[in-house]
Amino acid sequence: MQIIKVKDKNAGGKKAFALIHADIDQGAKVLGLATGSTPGPLYSEMRASRLDFSDMTSINLDEYIGLPPENPESYHYFMQKNLFDAKPFRESFVPDGMANDLAAECRRYDQVIKDHPIDIQILGIGENGHIGFNEPGTSFETHTHRVQLTESTIQANRRFFASVADVPTEAISMGIASIMQSKKIILMAYGEKKAKAVQAMVAGPVSEEVPASVLQRHPQAIVIVDEAAAAMI
Ligand code: GLP
Repeated sequence: MQIIKVKDKNAGGKKAFALIHADIDQGAKVLGLATGSTPGPLYSEMRASRLDFSDMTSINLDEYIGLPPENPESYHYFMQKNLFDAKPFRESFVPDGMANDLAAECRRYDQVIKDHPIDIQILGIGENGHIGFNEPGTSFETHTHRVQLTESTIQANRRFFASVADVPTEAISMGIASIMQSKKIILMAYGEKKAKAVQAMVAGPVSEEVPASVLQRHPQAIVIVDEAAAAMI
């Protein structure tokens, strides 16, 4: 695991962009994308860049169950506004949280990942150490699956919704096994709220109780942290 310390999230976005740019120049064609506030500065860099993604594929990590793509809090909507409107990809995959048959949707998504092996997976981290929506206790063997969000995640996401009752309680998430198959992983973490999770991820034992700790086993995992998130390492 390579740890890169930066001053703040804007510097982190620039660093992540430079790494991705270099890989695209070397032929990377499939990006695994994440949502949340963390990848925001990276997506700004991508939008402002001259890079063209129209021969590339993107595969997002997760989506809430029950939010249609036109809901501004859905991850479909987030990706459209933050990246795809400005920089379309040849194909963009996001799990369908409105699917009638969610088990079939999970299988379909696994096939998407199999058909398009991910060159670089972008990740944020939850305050409880989750990656994607793989909450503590998730088996490292999981592929795409249906997830019951933990109380801590529901509370953390509350700020985006009018009331806690509006926060979705379930999601579809790429699994840990799928994430670990990516050739390279870039996880970003910013702010003091992430300091404990960052410490557990990089310095704690590899444990299913801290999903991000599995990255210690990945041959090409890069962690970009700002000063606040690096306070305990
Ligand atoms: C959600 C997403 C994660 C993200 C996390 C942290 O749970 N499913 O992919 O890493 O939020 O969000 P933020 O970057 O806003 O702190």
